[in-house]
Amino acid sequence: MLVYIATYGCQANERDSETILGMLLQVDYQETGEETKADLIILNTCSIRDKAEQKVFSYLGTLRQLKEDKPGLVIALCGCMAQEEDMVDMIRRRAPFVDVICGTQRLHRLPEMVRLVQSGMGFQSDREEPGEIIEGLPSIRPYPFKALINITFGCDNFCTYCIVPYVRGRERGRRIEDVMGESRQRVDEGAVELMYLGQNVNAYAPFPELIRQAQGIDGLRRIRFLTSHPKDFHRDIIRAIADSPKAARHIHLPVQSGSNRILNAMNRGYSREAYLALTAKVRQAIPDVVLTTDIIVGFPGETDEDIADTLDLINQVGFGSAFTFMYSPRKGTPAAKMEKQIALAEKKARLQAVMDAQAAKGLQLHQSLVGTRMEVLAEAWDSGRLSGRGSGHQLIYFPGEPDGVGLFHRVEVTQARTWTLEGIACDE
Ligand code: SAH
Ligand code: SF4
Ligand code: F3S
Repeated sequence: MLVYIATYGCQANERDSETILGMLLQVDYQETGEETKADLIILNTCSIRDKAEQKVFSYLGTLRQLKEDKPGLVIALCGCMAQEEDMVDMIRRRAPFVDVICGTQRLHRLPEMVRLVQSGMGFQSDREEPGEIIEGLPSIRPYPFKALINITFGCDNFCTYCIVPYVRGRERGRRIEDVMGESRQRVDEGAVELMYLGQNVNAYAPFPELIRQAQGIDGLRRIRFLTSHPKDFHRDIIRAIADSPKAARHIHLPVQSGSNRILNAMNRGYSREAYLALTAKVRQAIPDVVLTTDIIVGFPGETDEDIADTLDLINQVGFGSAFTFMYSPRKGTPAAKMEKQIALAEKKARLQAVMDAQAAKGLQLHQSLVGTRMEVLAEAWDSGRLSGRGSGHQLIYFPGEPDGVGLFHRVEVTQARTWTLEGIACDE
């Protein structure tokens, strides 16, 4: 039996897809990259913005025909859309051929639900939120040399625009022993880079201790983590990162807006001044750190003045890169009901302004790297060139051989572009 998995959204879903594949391989499935050959198609969905959901619906549209041609085909929808109340009704209406809806906390039941469908039991749905963490599920990773490791699930922050607390449930942290056990196992399997995942890794109480313990794993070369929340970035976390040579010199620190008024309305829990003070403190403790961020434009009530504050903050901080988004109202979140929703044309103009400011700043930072050397973990090879990331998460291309993938290379930066760097491997 063949399974095809389409994964949308963030690393939380990528990690879940690894578990889905791991469980299915145990019950004799194999993975296929061609959906027309599959006996089981899994959509691991994302709800973060309307666009993410539209992508899933348009894919479901193409699956309708496939299902008609191949009646035995089982289609399962997992991930964050499975956890939205109205969405499930909508899926049932718009895509009644979906056989399984499996919630984000019920993944371990997926193989059984698929089997029930195959034995003629009809539509299966399980979206319970037990809140407990199930340890020890198998997983299959796409890259041998790096691994994603969850440290927390869910989120308790309730930023007013965000659907994650509703679709991923309350924040739950894994026991540090379980996290370390998985970490050591991954390194034993050959991973040289680990990425610790949580919607707010700084809310994981043992985070500094985790960094210290991971630092001690023989064979591990680099520790990454995602995402850091500015409101919980305490001094001991900065210290632990600064003191760990293996901790990547990169912190993804979403600011969302440079305006206090908007930050307040977003319920982010910090001010513009506090964010700037934090970035200064981080830079003092970790001088070569690269900061990256997320920015939302067009939040309800946002004015030209607010956007000017955001542009100013971009120029003050100097982010290595930024993900920029137009605010997308999510049903059931407070911001969706706020007055003064911003028109699409205005959102587009603001997005462009923010992207232009970041592009100029990002290019400047990249140019300052020309002539320097960095440790790069090569992740891919194409047409004579390896590509990978430096400690600061810079994407760099350099000439090399396919067998260089998965290894660290010392690379001299020769050319800067806005989003990427070019370089050449050097002996030392
Ligand atoms: N937990 C992470 C973010 C997860 S979502 C954090 O707090 O930083 C990733 C990014 O999507 C967010 O940082 C935000 O910039 C964006 N985002 C979330 N909800 C959104 C919405 N309704 N519209 C537009 N962008 C949104
Ligand atoms: Fe969403 Fe805020 Fe939680 Fe991030 S911290 S997942 S933006 S509610
Ligand atoms: Fe999307 Fe769910 Fe991640 S909504 S961004 S896949 S937590």
